[in-house]
Amino acid sequence: MKAKANTSQRPRDVQELSALFEISQTLDASMDLREVVGPMLSVMAGKLGMLRGTLTLLNRDTGEISIESAHGLSVSQRERGRYRPGEGVTGMVVQTGQPAVVPRISEEPLFLDRTGARRKLLKKDISFICVPIKLGREVIGALSADRLFDEKVSFEEDVRLLSIIASMIAQAVRLRQSAEEEHRRLTAENVRLQEALQDRFRPSNIIGDSRAMQGVYDQIAQVSGSRATVLIQGESGTGKELVAHAIHYNSPRSEKPFVRVNCAALPESVLESELFGHEKGAFTGAIAQRKGRFELAAGGSIFLDEVGDFTAATQIKLLRVLQEREFERVGGTKTIKADVRVVAATSRDLLQLIAEDSFRQDLYYRLNVFPIYLPPLRERKTDMPLLVDHFIRKYSADGDKRVTRISSPALEMLMRYEWPGNVRELENCIERALLVATDEVIQAHQLPPSVLASHGPASSDAEGLQAALDNLEREMIINSLRAARGNRAAAARTLGISERLMGLRVRKHNISARQFRTVR
Ligand SMILES: Nc1ncnc2c1ncn2[C@@H]1O[C@H](COP(=O)(O)OP(=O)(O)OP(=O)(O)O)[C@@H](O)[C@H]1O
Ligand SMILES: [Mg+2]
Repeated sequence: MKAKANTSQRPRDVQELSALFEISQTLDASMDLREVVGPMLSVMAGKLGMLRGTLTLLNRDTGEISIESAHGLSVSQRERGRYRPGEGVTGMVVQTGQPAVVPRISEEPLFLDRTGARRKLLKKDISFICVPIKLGREVIGALSADRLFDEKVSFEEDVRLLSIIASMIAQAVRLRQSAEEEHRRLTAENVRLQEALQDRFRPSNIIGDSRAMQGVYDQIAQVSGSRATVLIQGESGTGKELVAHAIHYNSPRSEKPFVRVNCAALPESVLESELFGHEKGAFTGAIAQRKGRFELAAGGSIFLDEVGDFTAATQIKLLRVLQEREFERVGGTKTIKADVRVVAATSRDLLQLIAEDSFRQDLYYRLNVFPIYLPPLRERKTDMPLLVDHFIRKYSADGDKRVTRISSPALEMLMRYEWPGNVRELENCIERALLVATDEVIQAHQLPPSVLASHGPASSDAEGLQAALDNLEREMIINSLRAARGNRAAAARTLGISERLMGLRVRKHNISARQFRTVR
């Protein structure tokens, strides 16, 4: 009897294997579960004699178990197949995580036949087998099938077979879930990067896309939102005032005043009252009470320009405002709160001034909370064409001459010049060239004598090439120093040259070391 059963089940084993193989291939065919479940259930029906194979999945949001796909059920039958965990046989399986077998559905009160698919059949002839689909310990749904009741078929066999298929489905679901998560993550990352690219901050008043200036824009973006004191350093004409403006107008204080104090232009005698105001009668000529710049800037920003030119006495007073955030008017006793954001600038080397004892170190630290260094124009000559275009547009709009561009030799001369007066000097140079221009193109001979005198026109291609190479060398050295935070040895290593050669090149190109120096 036993031997007979074994031989009669042989073909079934083979059938099972080939069915499982086919199912695994079906599951691989598409990443969309809905596309693969249908064919998979057909295989179950066709090859394993399992009718009305049904895949139900638990919807985590609604807590409902619904039919994901079914073989042999109409759409409306499928629609009716909704259960709660614990409800009916399928619900029990999802709730307990245990398989269930109903040998004759007519004898099982738990069997709801909610879909109504079996009404026309004699219920006593149908068996129902249902197994859980598990991801780890979590039950995510159930797989079930009907078969015609047959005393000879062992239900354990059916449960085992369905469980194998269920675990294959679970793997497929897991794979799709992680692929979907990965896809969502990548999409979100992509969107974020796109936004970052579009939003890459660039103050509207400042021209230039050199790497050095990109760094400055990033710093402006970083600091604008806060109230941190900013110290802008850089040679004369590099655009320090523009940066101060950009910080204020990109800050939450942009609607409030931006008050500039030129510390170099004011004589000591009036500076204090200019900054802090005075009470009536505080000194001869103080005929009325007057508000100082710190009070006028309330809620906004105060721009202390040329802060390196402050006298010793004023430095102490400024230090106090920065420390205590309050002050008194000259001749007054009332303490006034200073709700201002301080932006300071200087073209002097403050460290040098400290060494000479003409600038207080404690004040330097108070100001240098967020330092921004503006590199001289000769160190970012790649900005030249954009700046020239910008100034041509700015000044040709003024007059009636329509100058539209600069000739290549003229631009080449501008690229060679060292620009001690930086962007301001370039701006003046273009303004002047527009005045003498005779047609719509600025020619080399129309440039100012300073520019012409320093190098003379390019006499040969070799000379032009040398100039271009020098420029390239210079920018490479500056970039490597910047990346190495001023560490010459490290910068030399990245360029593959000796430290000694690095030293020689830094001197040859007159590269200012200030920008790379880090204090503290
Ligand atoms: N990147 C730039 N883009 C456009 N214009 C610029 C730029 N840099 C400077 N300028 C122009 O150059 C002139 C000088 O700039 P700014 O007054 O900001 O320089 P500064 O660093 O404050 O100089 P100083 O130390 O002499 O006061 C201004 O007319 C300014 O508009
Ligand atoms: Mg200035």
